[in-house]
Amino acid sequence: MSAGPIEYRRGNELDLEQVIELYHASTLGARRPADDRARMRDMLAHANLVFSAWDGPLLVGISRTLADFAFVAYLADLAVRESHQRQGIGRELIRLTRHALHPQATLVLLSAPAAVDYYPRVGMSRHPQAFVLKPGDPIV
Ligand SMILES: CC(C)(COP(=O)(O)OP(=O)(O)OC[C@H]1O[C@@H](n2cnc3c(N)ncnc32)[C@H](O)[C@@H]1OP(=O)(O)O)[C@@H](O)C(=O)NCCC(=O)NCCS
Repeated sequence: MSAGPIEYRRGNELDLEQVIELYHASTLGARRPADDRARMRDMLAHANLVFSAWDGPLLVGISRTLADFAFVAYLADLAVRESHQRQGIGRELIRLTRHALHPQATLVLLSAPAAVDYYPRVGMSRHPQAFVLKPGDPIV
């Protein structure tokens, strides 16, 4: 439970250790290279639209987006600390992200298996024409 109001901040100048700890504490760390500090550092450094949620000094949520701000933005990671889930923090991080974009820009994401029922709850729809090139997939 949160002790007080949640504070939201924009920017990727976050302490890497705190971010890695949050990925684990949200369970998203299991599906991200959370133990590879160099990749996590790059993931944070190159994301150009990041919001964090704070319960006092405790980092409780993050959205990490790669955006051109005008046409499309890829919400690469959304993570909320397990102790703080289902309090509207994920929805607020998505709202802030969208608000930072052109009104005609589209927000795109790939859901984690555990979150496929979450995104429709916050208004997102499935895209039947989405494709991915997974690591190691050949270009034929
Ligand atoms: C998925 C996640 C980001 C959602 O964040 P959250 O702050 O807990 O969600 P919110 O409080 O904004 O939830 C908004 C609504 O969705 C519902 N919801 C939350 N998690 C859900 C889930 N996994 N499945 C279905 N519905 C869910 C909430 O009950 C709420 O409904 P309501 O408005 O009727 O009360 C968070 O649970 C999380 O970090 N999960 C682990 C990591 C993960 O899978 N991230 C997604 C990577 S793509």
